[in-house]
Amino acid sequence: MPQKSSRPTKGYGGRGTAKGGRSAPRPTPMLPQITTVLSEEPDPTERDLLTLVQSIFRPLFAAPVALAATIQTVKKSLFERDYLNAFSLPEYLRAYVVRWSPSRALCYAHVIDRLDILAAAGGRDPATDEILPSRWLCIGGGAGGEVLALAWNARKHAVSGVDVTAVDIADWADVFDDIRGGLDRKWDMQPTADHECQDADAVDSAKLEFTMDFRELDILDATCAAEAGASVDGEPAVEPLVDFSSFDVITSLFTTNELFAQSRVRTMKLLSLITETAKPGTLFLVIESAGSYSDITVGSRTFPLHFLLDHALEMGWKCVHKNDATWFRVPEDFKYPLQLENMRFFVRLYRKL
Ligand SMILES: C[S@@+](CC[C@H](N)C(=O)[O-])C[C@H]1O[C@@H](n2cnc3c(N)ncnc32)[C@H](O)[C@@H]1O
Repeated sequence: MPQKSSRPTKGYGGRGTAKGGRSAPRPTPMLPQITTVLSEEPDPTERDLLTLVQSIFRPLFAAPVALAATIQTVKKSLFERDYLNAFSLPEYLRAYVVRWSPSRALCYAHVIDRLDILAAAGGRDPATDEILPSRWLCIGGGAGGEVLALAWNARKHAVSGVDVTAVDIADWADVFDDIRGGLDRKWDMQPTADHECQDADAVDSAKLEFTMDFRELDILDATCAAEAGASVDGEPAVEPLVDFSSFDVITSLFTTNELFAQSRVRTMKLLSLITETAKPGTLFLVIESAGSYSDITVGSRTFPLHFLLDHALEMGWKCVHKNDATWFRVPEDFKYPLQLENMRFFVRLYRKL
């Protein structure tokens, strides 16, 4: 297959490269039968993701010169690791999304589809074989790649009630609103910010329910709140910042490296907190750049990130899929006005015991 850029995506693109109401109890999801290979061709309908992004952000594409200039500004800030500036203006965030999130969304849609993660997370209705809803927490998922990939999978497999919460240290709330509107208008989904507030009669039953929520939060603060909360008479003194037990799937996609860069100790504490609090059966999906970009230095030694993860999650989790280096290559006939990146990455999918 002819290739697009063979440069791997590393961290930020600039550096290189519903609450779904569930009333009835449901069967325990089966472990995924992972026989597929990630290197298979992506589903051709993934190109709908590109059309969707172009439609949501049409005004940006209508002014290509201005968009190119904004992307350059963001790219420069990302290169200089000046994230404060890179994400300081709404137009910078939107420029980031249209430039870098589509490649990510394609890759994540492919991984979630090929590893059958929606079915592994929600299980299937024994009577109808339909995939049941699941709740997803996407750490560092503000830029939309994960939510787009999940919406595409929910639509492909006709799963209603998928519920996505993205937490991110940067404020992507407006971008989330843009995406929510696009899913409703273009993909006949019924994405709502707050399931409880919906007027049930107003929901078009032909639409798939797809709930997406954004929370601006430093995920590493979740560990401080947990420590503070543990101290009073064995009862939590403060509400946990994030209730990891309420999710079926937790993702950290191209974010784990950044967390380790911010604080290795706090990131290890976060992994411990997730291990302590996630319910049995929870899936934890990690995708990150393959190769030395993902090396972490501990004292005088250097370890690949996936090695540290496997070690940190040895107790309490079963690794159900691992791949230390694989490629997602964008099919040549996927057209998009901006560059799309091929990605070389490692994958870990753990299931909580
Ligand atoms: C390289 S980007 C990846 C974005 C997205 N997951 C994707 O793959 O397209 C890393 C994301 O993690 C977020 N992030 C970094 N540190 C964080 C923290 N401490 N808490 C929450 N989000 C964080 C950033 O704001 C950014 O959106």
